Amino acid sequence: MANSNKPFIDQAYCQTAIKHVLQKIDENLDIFTYKYPAPASVNLVYPAIDNVQWTSSFWTGMLWLAYEVTGDDKYRKVAEIQLEDFTRQATNRICTDTHDLGFLFTLSCVAAFRLTGNEQAKETAIKAADLLMERYFEKAGIIQAWGNLNDPEERGRMIIDCCMNLPLLYWATEVTGNPSYHKAAYNHAKKAAQYLVREDATTFHTYYVDVLTGEPRFGKTNQGFSDDSCWARGQAWALYGFPLSYKYTKAAEFLETNKRVTQYFLERMPKDLICYWDLMFVDGPEERDSSAAVIAACGMLEHAKYLPVTDETKSLYEITAMQIVHSLTENYTTKNTPESNGILLHAVYGKPHNSGVDECCIWGDYYYFEALVRLTKDWQLYW
Ligand code: GLY
Repeated sequence: MANSNKPFIDQAYCQTAIKHVLQKIDENLDIFTYKYPAPASVNLVYPAIDNVQWTSSFWTGMLWLAYEVTGDDKYRKVAEIQLEDFTRQATNRICTDTHDLGFLFTLSCVAAFRLTGNEQAKETAIKAADLLMERYFEKAGIIQAWGNLNDPEERGRMIIDCCMNLPLLYWATEVTGNPSYHKAAYNHAKKAAQYLVREDATTFHTYYVDVLTGEPRFGKTNQGFSDDSCWARGQAWALYGFPLSYKYTKAAEFLETNKRVTQYFLERMPKDLICYWDLMFVDGPEERDSSAAVIAACGMLEHAKYLPVTDETKSLYEITAMQIVHSLTENYTTKNTPESNGILLHAVYGKPHNSGVDECCIWGDYYYFEALVRLTKDWQLYW
């Protein structure tokens, strides 16, 4: 658990850390113009792949952050080249059988629209929101995460990660005036709080709901240690996702749920504040997941914004987030690993699948950059 000593991290410290991030982006800019980093590195190097994964936009999002903090058009140019890929993807329904349309189109197209007013990006993001709505089951009030909607293995399966995909829908209502996107996102977030968050504030990774009756069925993990353990990144997705639902709905229940979720996360942090890949571990030889830690840091900073100064969790969240970023910057970046094209070491993609274990994961790099930007200015969210 974090202590409440004042953090020793200031603007200058974060700017130095951002310099390292920008240096890595610059090194990668040519190779990742028409290609994207794979979700996880292999021997600490991301292979270059086409836009076929749920993770492509984390790189594009880093380019938008880089453009935002430097004003340098070289980042914008590459991000705009990639917008063409995202437009093609939404228009031709390429790899769109997924709830991760939220990640994909928020950090590419919504970010472009918010930063530059790009109308084509806006239209593409609305198209993506429409595709995401196809996955919404009205009766059950949930969005199916993966696969074909009639696949018996996947039908009615919601997952905690989806909390981060909902901003695309909330945003779509804001720009179109059509309330159905917001309603679906709000309903899904409420069901996530009801079914995916357990009594003890731990989270299931995935949960099946009967889409015909709306009845809850059972929880199951995919990337966690076991069905009844608490996958660290899932907890982190919740911890950032619920404040985002609060941002758009102002429903107090999301912050109440999130306080419990965050409390559990804090209780399971090891001494250096970088969680293990599943929160059943608090020490020992298992791998850490630096990406979960930094997602949680961003979530704490977002949640803290909505708390009054009289609420002592406000400063607890702010200080803990800074301490996590400090710990990552000191001991988890590629500062001294020049052979890597990633930024944050020691992440885990899917331990049970033996995929991306103790590697860089591209979303970890993105959220590390986002956390640093949040700590240096009043950042207007892409989410
Ligand atoms: N959303 C998939 C993951 O966190 O691995």
